[in-house]
Amino acid sequence: MPVIIEKQYKNNSHLAVWQITESHDELQALLPSEILTDAELAGISHPQKQIEFFCSRLTIRHLANKLGIKYLGIRKDENGKPYLVGSEWQFSLTHTAGYIAVVMHESQSLGIDMEQPSEKLLRIARKFLSETERTDADSDLDKLCIYWSAKEALYKLYGKRKVIFIDNLLITPFQKDQQVINGRLKINDIDEQYAMIVEKIDKYYLVSVC
Ligand SMILES: CC(C)(COP(=O)(O)OP(=O)(O)OC[C@H]1O[C@@H](n2cnc3c(N)ncnc32)[C@H](O)[C@@H]1OP(=O)(O)O)[C@@H](O)C(=O)NCCC(=O)NCCS
Repeated sequence: MPVIIEKQYKNNSHLAVWQITESHDELQALLPSEILTDAELAGISHPQKQIEFFCSRLTIRHLANKLGIKYLGIRKDENGKPYLVGSEWQFSLTHTAGYIAVVMHESQSLGIDMEQPSEKLLRIARKFLSETERTDADSDLDKLCIYWSAKEALYKLYGKRKVIFIDNLLITPFQKDQQVINGRLKINDIDEQYAMIVEKIDKYYLVSVC
């Protein structure tokens, strides 16, 4: 079971990162059928997506077991935000082709996202960055990726639809090697600031709001 990173952040949230090395069948065999329901799998037809799905549930179960939470599966609310069945613990997850990352906290809402720098971010920068953020990121793919992941993580923390990335999710300009950046969620009557942790894992940037 290749959990490659496990740590506790200062605010008592817990992170686990799983590197995907197992085959589709090995992973399926690890998940008990009462947790991995056909209904959950029905919407995922692509084998690679199924692998990410299996691994994400195994990573959540791994963390839950470690923290003494009885893992009864996960469900999603009307916005698609996932929650643990029968527990008050909060979590957020992200998957890529190579890794799964999950953060959990006893009570606080969380957000996590993992992405790799890509040219695509240059093309969509105008859609997700404010003018100040765009000036700061310029054409630096690493910075664009950190901005994107940070905003996706804030989006997951909020968990509801109708979020305008340019206006509602704001990131204070930062240095590329900065390990903690500042995010702000400003929507309706909410205006909250968050410290966000930036980590590099392989070719990916992992940003966690916690
Ligand atoms: C939902 C979304 C955040 C997922 O991000 P992603 O990078 O595609 O995928 P990730 O692997 O990082 O995250 C997927 C997980 O996010 C979680 N997620 C989905 N909807 C969520 C929500 N509303 N709140 C919190 N978490 C959510 C799920 O757990 C999902 O994993 P699962 O399907 O296996 O349960 C993303 O697709 C999205 O909708 N973003 C906002 C849309 C938008 O407006 N973007 C354009 C801005 S210009």
